[in-house]
Amino acid sequence: MNIHTYEKLWLAAAMVLIVGFIATITYGAVGPGVTMVNDDGGSIDPDAISDHERFGDTGVTHVGGDEYEVAVVAQAWSYSPGEIEVPAGSEVTFYVTSRDVTHSFSVVGTNINTMVIPGEVSQMTVEFDEPGEYGILCNEYCGQGHHNMEGKLTVVPEDEFNMTELSVEAPDEVEAGNETTINATVSDGMQTDLGTTVTLEIGDQQYEEDVAIEGAGSESVEFAVDTDELGAGDHDWTVTAAGYEESGTLTVVDGEGGSDGGDGDA
Ligand code: CUA
Repeated sequence: MNIHTYEKLWLAAAMVLIVGFIATITYGAVGPGVTMVNDDGGSIDPDAISDHERFGDTGVTHVGGDEYEVAVVAQAWSYSPGEIEVPAGSEVTFYVTSRDVTHSFSVVGTNINTMVIPGEVSQMTVEFDEPGEYGILCNEYCGQGHHNMEGKLTVVPEDEFNMTELSVEAPDEVEAGNETTINATVSDGMQTDLGTTVTLEIGDQQYEEDVAIEGAGSESVEFAVDTDELGAGDHDWTVTAAGYEESGTLTVVDGEGGSDGGDGDA
């Protein structure tokens, strides 16, 4: 059988095109950094999201090494949390579910773009190599506030990322002569141990205590403040730990009551 030369050429060109299409699609499906949405996330009772182990407390969790998990709840018309911060050089797995209707979770400029369906958990893992800022959008029409449904994802330089928190409990006012305490709690959101010194400065008094915090744990320090030594009046205090600072004012009131006239202590 004799095939015309032109026909041979067209056959060859068609074969090349077909192979090219298959190669393109294969690359798109399994190429570097590309993740397919799947149903690995499982299902969830949309009415019991607040009690759920993962979604009861949304936000970023350090899993270990450079791996992080982010739990996000979508609802009309916002994401919780609305702002997400992860470090560069991390591998982040997003778990997203909806409290009400179908939304989407799309991180503009990345390949994260998934439907978020009530009762289902969408799961995606992405690597962020470089610092950057990304908008998060809802691409699924979800009611009159749909166009306002947005969030923000910030990839910060690794050395600027911190999951340490400092919280301080202190009274506003105390009577002179009474002992009072200022409590500082340092929590370590990373899976690695943290050692730091907690310092309290109040008036010209200074207290400090070293704490060792186990990964994902927290430690509290109680400073007993001598109000006699401070004397009556307003005293600014500052608590520092792990590069964080909290401050406030403690007012020591004269226990004898009465006016705050200028009669000294002596
Ligand atoms: Cu949520 Cu559109």
